[in-house]
Amino acid sequence: MSVMAIVGAQWGDEGKGKIIDELADRAAFVARYQGGGNAGHRVLHGEKEFAFHLVPAGILHDGVTCIIGNGVVVDPRGLLSEMDDLRQLGVDLTRLFISERAHVVMPYHFALDRLEEESRGSERIGTVLRGIGPAYVDKYARNGIRMADLLDVDVFRAKLAAVLDQKNRLITQIYGQPPLSLEEIHTEYVGYAQQLRPYITDTTAMLQTAYEESKPILLEGAQGALLDVDFGTYPFVTSSSTIAGNASTGSGLSPRCIEHVLGVYKAYITRVGSGPMPTELFDATGDQLRADGHEFGTTTGRPRRCGWFDAVAGRFVAKLNGFDGMAIMKLDVLDNFETIRIATSYRLGGRELHAPPANLNDLAACEPVYEEWPGWMTSTAGATTMDELPGAARNYLHRLEELLDTPLTLVSVGPGRGQTIHLRDLTV
Ligand code: GDP
Ligand code: IMO
Ligand code: MG
Repeated sequence: MSVMAIVGAQWGDEGKGKIIDELADRAAFVARYQGGGNAGHRVLHGEKEFAFHLVPAGILHDGVTCIIGNGVVVDPRGLLSEMDDLRQLGVDLTRLFISERAHVVMPYHFALDRLEEESRGSERIGTVLRGIGPAYVDKYARNGIRMADLLDVDVFRAKLAAVLDQKNRLITQIYGQPPLSLEEIHTEYVGYAQQLRPYITDTTAMLQTAYEESKPILLEGAQGALLDVDFGTYPFVTSSSTIAGNASTGSGLSPRCIEHVLGVYKAYITRVGSGPMPTELFDATGDQLRADGHEFGTTTGRPRRCGWFDAVAGRFVAKLNGFDGMAIMKLDVLDNFETIRIATSYRLGGRELHAPPANLNDLAACEPVYEEWPGWMTSTAGATTMDELPGAARNYLHRLEELLDTPLTLVSVGPGRGQTIHLRDLTV
């Protein structure tokens, strides 16, 4: 596989964690390239369930080195608690490394995420309140604190004092809240720096060396392309670029190194938080998708909004990322539907659209045009090859392949390891 980026192709929660875990046994390195503790990637191993927020989902494989890349924003407290939880489950963390260039999520980022959301009122984005937006704002405003700064006590104190003064003015004068204490934050974060010091290094050099030695590398995306800050349903997006183009920037591997880009889609679609979603179902069918798919958030527990597969958005995303393969996840969740729909275009005021419009009011007014496919009304959960799937399921998958103009690489029929149909050899 050499270097493969694995990218969420919808609004997140497609099942990236399961696919990373599934493919990591062929990898030497797995690196996260963007996002932060807003991600929630679940992996099920028999009775044990692992929930990853910052640690790459490849960590469960002995011998795989896992990297939190420079493009990630890291909340040290959240990371240390996730590491503790993993240690208790018997996971070896000596193979984990954090980029010295990764930005640190600070207490004022958490505070501002909440205050900004509250001030948006009915226009709130529905962020996961992990400080992600404010941390990326500071990165681009050049007010950020990086892991390398955290390790240098003097640099850290000076940077923190300067930025906290500015943030406290915002917190007290604009939002009327009490200021945060420099001493408390300083002491707390110096403690985190001591604990994280052994893990913080030049991860870009590690990845470049691995590439030169032809070691297989997976680049793990978080969120999904419809939450991308440039191409998603702006402003109802996350604050990072989630698509394959950023896998290079967020890791330090040149774009020329990335040979394969795998898109991860669910066999239907979900969204958490606000913003338009053309195929959203508000009826019993939507409730059945939520119940059968256990569609409740990993990070917040919020119920996910559910709808039919949106091939208009799906095709747009496939082109943006240049997918050379796709995984269709949670096919088993459609096992009990008599008919299944796919949106193939949108209708907007008498016009037919074949890509999502940039204007959000237009997107909100789009009516999906559906085609209907017969369901299979039988369990797919035990299938290990395409031949073992019912004909109607195969027809549905082939139609998605055709509509997205992307070859099917993997089909997932359950959350467990092994409940995956591999259609192509990914080692070539
Ligand atoms: P991610 O954020 O993209 O990694 O996805 P999440 O982990 O947030 O959500 C996907 C959920 O679906 C997880 O709880 C997985 O264990 C589960 N899952 C993954 N693949 C399948 C599948 O094929 N069938 C079913 N029923 N569940 C799956
Ligand atoms: P994974 O990696 C689904 C959504 C939030 C909100 C918007 C902005 O598990 O697929 P943020 O906190 O990022 O500023 O929130 O993005 N969101 C996700 N939705 N899966 C995720 O991650 C998400 N990460 C953020 O719900 O609508
Ligand atoms: Mg998730």
